[in-house]
Amino acid sequence: MCGIVGYVGQKTALPILLDGLKRLEYRGYDSAGFALFSGSNFLIKRNAGPVEGLADISEDLGKTEHLGIAHTRWATHGAPTEINAHPHRAGEIVLVHNGIIENYSQIKERLMKHGAQFSSQTDTEVFAQLIEHHRKLLTNKTPKENPESIILAALKTSMSEVEGHYAILLMSQTVPGKIFGIQNGAPLVVSKLKDGCLIASDIQAIIPYHNEVCFLPQGEIFIIDSGDIHCKNMHFEKIDWSADKVEKDGFESFMLKEVFQQPLVVADSLSGRLPIDSKAPFIWDHQKSHEVLWKNAKRLYLIACGTSFHAAMTAKYFFERWAKIDCQVDIASEFRYRDPIFEPGTVVGVISQSGETADTLAALRLANAAGVSTFSICNVKNSTISRESGFQYPTKAGPEIGVASTKAFTSQLTILCALALDIGRLRGINQSGENSDLSFHALARLPHDLDRILKQSEIFINMGATLKDQRIILFVGRGTMYPIALEGALKFKELTYLPSEGFAAGELKHGPIAYIDKDVSIVVLAPKDEWYAKTISNLEEIRARGGHIIAIGTEGDTETSKVANEFIGLPEAAWGTQPILSVIPLQLLAYGCAKALGRNIDKPRNLAKSVTVE
Ligand code: M6R
Repeated sequence: MCGIVGYVGQKTALPILLDGLKRLEYRGYDSAGFALFSGSNFLIKRNAGPVEGLADISEDLGKTEHLGIAHTRWATHGAPTEINAHPHRAGEIVLVHNGIIENYSQIKERLMKHGAQFSSQTDTEVFAQLIEHHRKLLTNKTPKENPESIILAALKTSMSEVEGHYAILLMSQTVPGKIFGIQNGAPLVVSKLKDGCLIASDIQAIIPYHNEVCFLPQGEIFIIDSGDIHCKNMHFEKIDWSADKVEKDGFESFMLKEVFQQPLVVADSLSGRLPIDSKAPFIWDHQKSHEVLWKNAKRLYLIACGTSFHAAMTAKYFFERWAKIDCQVDIASEFRYRDPIFEPGTVVGVISQSGETADTLAALRLANAAGVSTFSICNVKNSTISRESGFQYPTKAGPEIGVASTKAFTSQLTILCALALDIGRLRGINQSGENSDLSFHALARLPHDLDRILKQSEIFINMGATLKDQRIILFVGRGTMYPIALEGALKFKELTYLPSEGFAAGELKHGPIAYIDKDVSIVVLAPKDEWYAKTISNLEEIRARGGHIIAIGTEGDTETSKVANEFIGLPEAAWGTQPILSVIPLQLLAYGCAKALGRNIDKPRNLAKSVTVE
């Protein structure tokens, strides 16, 4: 979604701003722009299209300015045009903005009555005009007041009038050399460099310059100049991601690199957490509180969006079976507007790669406000969701740049597997710690099994390419393979833009079987698990109607390979690790098809990496 970068210092600002915008591209956007300040006037450029286009039209500009703000916009209010792109100027000020102003139309009407004219359809321009309106009123009322205090007062009044979550940066002609800003529910991170200060909505734009950063506190107005950041309650911290972790390392796309990183990141997510033997506990930070929390837990809600929601759905099977805990899963955008039952013993877990997803954050806040215990499984350590959750069980997947989530998903599942197994042990279930579904030995060998599957990557990619002319692709599975089928369909639609749907295999004859004819391809997840025989019956039903079957099963399974048109055998695995292994071919099928169709793999159309609006 939208990205913000700002710089003030001794270097020329424009190359730093453009570099920052490039590094934020992965978040998804459709237009870009910047404003530089020379000390007397603004230089503003905007482009409906990629950052490269903006750089091209600015080639001969920005040679002398040391102060600027820049933005990538993911359209919400108004089409992705140059006029709607940020920055927006209102009188003496210029502004970039992430997030949404919910009551913008009421404010717009009010300002129009005072004579304001608007050139764009955006809520951002309304915010800019509101601040300028107050700045002018205050200047007329107290002409002797210094301009900096006037801007601060105008910001404060405007903040009290707007509703929504946002982050803004602002420059004013009346206060040269400074950037003003507010973080109010959309993150901003700042760093003090040797030659100035750099601010952005995302660490990725800062990390190549410095690894000591401060996440600006919510609701505080701040000022940045070339020497310092002025804000209350600032805490700087070192970030352990390095710039080289956000390079493609010779892969064609970030997504492909991230698919291949899965053995490593799963190993990292388990590292230091595996028990020393089957009777010992898994090792978590805050071990004692973890034990108290789970011994007293009566009901668990797992809440998330998109791919992270599929991790939650899969984990429901683990928690019910191993921990014998009532586990309900829900999509965050639904949960936040329902009336969930919060009783003593309720635990709410939110799962999010980015840790900034607006709906997931709102669900977490709802649970926190109700006073129940909360935890998060996030990939970004200092994200808002991580910071606001009671407990953290972080994944260690490193930066995930491809919009299609891959390694974050398998890392989430790994943590959820370990957690459910450990909670079962804590609650006295499966005391031995060894059962046929999963032991810590099976978890420990996961990276090795993932490696083996990735050795067949060419087969999956080529098979994906053969699907490019299909009118629809279906995915089915039973038990833990059902959420994996949904995840396969999601990967397919977001990367290829082809219609694809996932179903529980048992639901086929309740409607979806109507789709099946000889022109329809159907991916059936059929590992040798306890539902195997039933899945094979479903496979027969599809074959009887002429559907083209791609079966993903267990190595050496001759029965399935006879029924299917195409068969992919995966290593035999424990029930608990099966979902983590089975999703890999689906990621690569989607990748292969998208590549054959010439799609933008890392930045599929209309999608954003971090969905910070509801
Ligand atoms: O950052 P989050 O895990 O909270 O994001 C949730 C979804 O937006 C995300 O998983 C989305 O569905 C992915 N693009 C799917 O690949």
